[in-house]
Amino acid sequence: MKTRRDFLAGSLVGSAALLISRSSAALQAGTDAHIEVLLNEPIGTIAPEIYGHFAEHLGGVVYDGIWVGENSKVPNVGGIRKALVDALVKIKASAIRWPGGCFADSYNWRDGIGPRKDRPRRPNFWVDAPEWPKGAPDGPWKYDPNQFGTDEFLRFCQLSGAQPYLAANLRSLTPKDFYEWVDYCNSPAGTTTLADARAAGGQREPWKVRYWGIGNESWGCGGNFQPEEYVIEYRRFAEWVPRYGLNLAYIGSGPNGGDLSWTRRFFGKLAEKGGFGKMWGWALHHYSWNITGGRTTDWFQGKGDAVKYSDDEWYELLNEADKVEALITDNWAIMGEFDRQHRVKLVIDEWGAWHKPGSELHNTHLLGQQSTMRDAVLAGLTLDIFHHHADKVGMANIAQLINCLAALFFAHEDKFIVTPTYHVFDMYAAHQGAQAVRTLIGTPRLSYLRNGKSATMRGLNSSASLRGKELTLTVTNPDLRNAQETEIALRGATIKVIKATVLAHNDIHACNTFENPNVIQPRTEDVNAKGNSLVYKFPPASVTKLSVTLV
Ligand code: AHR
Repeated sequence: MKTRRDFLAGSLVGSAALLISRSSAALQAGTDAHIEVLLNEPIGTIAPEIYGHFAEHLGGVVYDGIWVGENSKVPNVGGIRKALVDALVKIKASAIRWPGGCFADSYNWRDGIGPRKDRPRRPNFWVDAPEWPKGAPDGPWKYDPNQFGTDEFLRFCQLSGAQPYLAANLRSLTPKDFYEWVDYCNSPAGTTTLADARAAGGQREPWKVRYWGIGNESWGCGGNFQPEEYVIEYRRFAEWVPRYGLNLAYIGSGPNGGDLSWTRRFFGKLAEKGGFGKMWGWALHHYSWNITGGRTTDWFQGKGDAVKYSDDEWYELLNEADKVEALITDNWAIMGEFDRQHRVKLVIDEWGAWHKPGSELHNTHLLGQQSTMRDAVLAGLTLDIFHHHADKVGMANIAQLINCLAALFFAHEDKFIVTPTYHVFDMYAAHQGAQAVRTLIGTPRLSYLRNGKSATMRGLNSSASLRGKELTLTVTNPDLRNAQETEIALRGATIKVIKATVLAHNDIHACNTFENPNVIQPRTEDVNAKGNSLVYKFPPASVTKLSVTLV
């Protein structure tokens, strides 16, 4: 894994920004920035699945986070934490990926079906991770008791209103195990032995799972393959699977960071025999972790603290996040050389900030980390980039859902809180399923110091979408010190009413805790505006949504 990160840091350079930057000379006198919303220039429908999540058996994600057990004093629905389900419904969670990540390629789905009391305990893929917090006891986070298996996960998705995305084990199971998992999940009631096994476990009707990942990071923990070897494995898995009338969507394991040769070699080899192996999506992972500005590419040394960061580390991390735009456009261009009609979409099924250990809320929460306004701005910036590429991105899954990495939630026993990242997902939910329209931004680039030398990064970022008469404009301002007074012009529409929802805090290191859960939360205000333009001041270090009702 270290090698992958080293490569990632060394190979992604610059960002092919889709937004057209204008010189500050083009700005209206007196304002700092300018946003034009081109309502007549649609990009594509924003797939609701862009607002997907990722729940791996890792640290406190499943045991403590999602699964508390039926006999728990924590309010639950059949063992699943109720507060989490309610919050996911509120933000319209669209998809959840499970059971990994790296864990997926060591997981046997058969261990997690049938009566819970009879299920085996297995060592978790992450049992020996060097990042375990000191004193972490043994327990389900290290030795998986399989209490949360296929049916529990699919019930969790059903309760939350999300589509399940199951990741198949390609490294250590066979294509037969894969199609039998599909059989277990999707066969009509009473048709097969596995349909009967499912019914015996309490689910008579098929779950109708559409999204199936075929391997995860197959260049690394998912098998250490060369792309040509992975093509062979991929084909064996995808060649025959009972479809049961469903339009199954397979997702292939994409490159290690910016390793474009993986994409080119995979698609080149796959195309040799014609067709794309029924592939629907190509997975990209983009973690923002290296705050050293190139001083090191070491996977452990390169990370910074989740809470105690300098101003320059704030900018550097956000600049790392911004690189996802080039990752999207570069991979898309290569895929288009082989898949000219672009039938295969991009699936950014792991993304978010990855800080160094030490700020987790409990010592069983491996890779748990606190969350501040920096994580919120990172989330808004990234989601806005996905919207710029609504024609290319079919799904995205922030890593991870709860108690791990860029989590939306923290939970321990009966305590449950939301993070600033959750608020961004809540605010941005209005974009789901709407038509993305092009925005042009004129904004000064921000200057900061990278290892004593001057560096710059994108200033405001923004995206817009339209649903009937409702326009949603979201804007991130990464500037730590300055509000950005911005002229916003709507081309092709007239404003009736505007409301602003703003997520900001005057202390950039502030965070929500179990003791003080509402330190960072959004506020909503009316905005006075008429005609087709307005001036709005975006606070420093903020995420804003302008909800505009059009005439
Ligand atoms: O999200 C944590 C890990 O990061 C995942 O298991 C793996 O796919 C990636 O390397």
